Amino acid sequence: MRKGLVGAGAAAVLALVAALRFGGAVDDTVLPGIPSPGPVTEWALPVLTMVATVLGVLTVGLSVTAAFLLPGDGRSVAAHGWVLLRRVTWLALLWAATSAALVVLTVSDVLGLPVDRLGRSSILSFALSVSQGQSLMWQAGLAIAVAVASRAGLSRGVAAVTAGLALGAVLPPAFTGHSAGAGNHQLAVSSLALHVVAASLWVGGLTGLLLVRRHRRFGETAARYSRLALACFVATAISGVVNAGIRLGDWPALWSSRYGALVLLKAVALLAVGAIGAAHRARTLPALRSGTPWAFVRLGVGELIVLAAAVGLSVALSRSPTPVPETAVEPDPLVELLGFAQPGPPTAVRMLADPLPDMFFLTVVVAGILAYLAGVRRMRRAGHPWPVSRTASWIGGLLLLGAITGLGVARYAYVLFSAHMVQHMVLSMVVPILLVGGAPVTLALRALRRPADPQVRGAREWLLLALHSRPARVLSHPLVALGIYVTSLYGLYLGGLLGTLMRYHLGHLAMLTHFVLAGYLLFWVLIGVDPGRRRVHPALLVVVHFLAMVAHAFFGFVLLQSTTVIADDWYTAVHPPWASSLLADQHLGAGLAWAFGELPAAAILLLLVRQWIRSDEREQARLDRAADRAEATGADDDLARYNAFLAATRPGSSTMPEHHADNS
Ligand code: HEM
Repeated sequence: MRKGLVGAGAAAVLALVAALRFGGAVDDTVLPGIPSPGPVTEWALPVLTMVATVLGVLTVGLSVTAAFLLPGDGRSVAAHGWVLLRRVTWLALLWAATSAALVVLTVSDVLGLPVDRLGRSSILSFALSVSQGQSLMWQAGLAIAVAVASRAGLSRGVAAVTAGLALGAVLPPAFTGHSAGAGNHQLAVSSLALHVVAASLWVGGLTGLLLVRRHRRFGETAARYSRLALACFVATAISGVVNAGIRLGDWPALWSSRYGALVLLKAVALLAVGAIGAAHRARTLPALRSGTPWAFVRLGVGELIVLAAAVGLSVALSRSPTPVPETAVEPDPLVELLGFAQPGPPTAVRMLADPLPDMFFLTVVVAGILAYLAGVRRMRRAGHPWPVSRTASWIGGLLLLGAITGLGVARYAYVLFSAHMVQHMVLSMVVPILLVGGAPVTLALRALRRPADPQVRGAREWLLLALHSRPARVLSHPLVALGIYVTSLYGLYLGGLLGTLMRYHLGHLAMLTHFVLAGYLLFWVLIGVDPGRRRVHPALLVVVHFLAMVAHAFFGFVLLQSTTVIADDWYTAVHPPWASSLLADQHLGAGLAWAFGELPAAAILLLLVRQWIRSDEREQARLDRAADRAEATGADDDLARYNAFLAATRPGSSTMPEHHADNS
């Protein structure tokens, strides 16, 4: 095994060095008058970038294997998982140190000065105020958090948090590399983020798996990994092709440019590991189940070597000049800010037909629909009906999510406050109501299979744990859900956050996701049918909904009266020449927000009142049944006892009811 890992490392380094030379990322020629950081930086920068990438991949893979792939020991990770988490600590610390070293090398590269001539102040200001430096510092900070989390306890929950943090830590550079400079940067950035996450899970997971090859349940662990690997294969392929398409610009660049040639090599590597994966499924996994593990391990090592070479190619690719230049000859500040050119005056056709796809939401939509339909199919096959209305509600919600974040309207939401407000209202009211109507948790709990081994936690077990966790209990309190919903509305617009979030792709993505989640939480608490909700009296739900409506209407009113432009900096910078004044557009947005909430709010109110009436009817039916039972057995029922109590407490009455007297 050790030989296999050394082979994988050597393949990655060889691929990196050859691709750096070939792709033109490293060129030893020094041109007079052009500042050069010198050969140390030129070589050390890509090599350390690869070291950081490999450390990230290993940290992700080992923590994911410990938390999700291996069977545990009750609530804790088992011995093999413990060993992996110990390794994660050291890998993560090394990763943090490498990312910090990359800050220095990147400054040297950007300024064209050798490392020994850099001043401390230039390094500090790069690390704290330039996006590339900030992203490396974020990565270093998150890697330290991973190291701390990996020692925070042995529970499987802590291992899952460690894995989540590690996945978060691979992301920051994706938001500042080639892709961030791409014209079509929404799609470029989100496709690279997906690509890096999927590739890290895939390559890292395989390494983790091979490290636990002596586990007595290795066969089942490998089968679970195989399902993860298939999903990662698909995600890596789609996101890689999308990203390459943006960087290449057109088909001829694929064979006429060196960048294109490197992309083709990666495609070959992908096909090779695809073939290996198919061989695993057809031959080595069944052999593993029948007690012959070595064929699987041998093929797995071969697969790891190809994947490591692909990672080496990737790092060289990310440093090679791209056919579509990262910065235009005459850069347009607006395009740099928005990632696209200013759209023309809005028309219905432009709102619908000039899409701005985002890989993050597209993935959520496609994966959400496919997973739901797979669940429904499994239910039907097992002979359990599933209401079509729920399926329609879920699919409708996801399609609307995809449309409002990816069609032309999404472009206008960047440049017009009013369009942003429409997007916000749809995402926080209509989409969540439809998604809640799909009852996804009920479907998941019914359709997901329990693992044969009780020590294995599958998706169903994690979902149940999450539903019964303390955060879920706190969040599902109606007043907490209301608080989150209302605070986000007021905090974002009146607290001055909007401008900052608009400026960063990650911030923008986080904001839109938050709208959906905050809305989902509120409407799940109010009208959801999924398990996990608190049992509260329907009257309280009506009150909570009423308060949400009032807060919403008051927000619209405040905005309508306001004479201060919200996110002034941002909207001034992107203001379209054909649009009305910033304040007029803001007032339009306020009016839309006010009017928009009314229809969904009225529908929810109707549902809540119906819920209330039904619960009263159910309570009445329960009392009637109790009275019938009491009459049949001759005992007092609740109602008779209550009437007797009233009679006894009436003025003039001197006696306690008989049974009370008996009890006292
Ligand atoms: C074989 C499996 C693959 C693995 C393990 C892999 C891994 C990676 C990794 C780790 C990166 C990030 C590199 C960095 O920013 O330092 C990356 C970037 C990239 N990958 Fe892949 N990849 C694979 C397949 C593909 C395929 C099939 C394509 C396209 C046909 C592709 C296209 C790209 C592109 C365009 C980038 C961005 C490079 C840039 O910033 O210019 N990859 N890949």
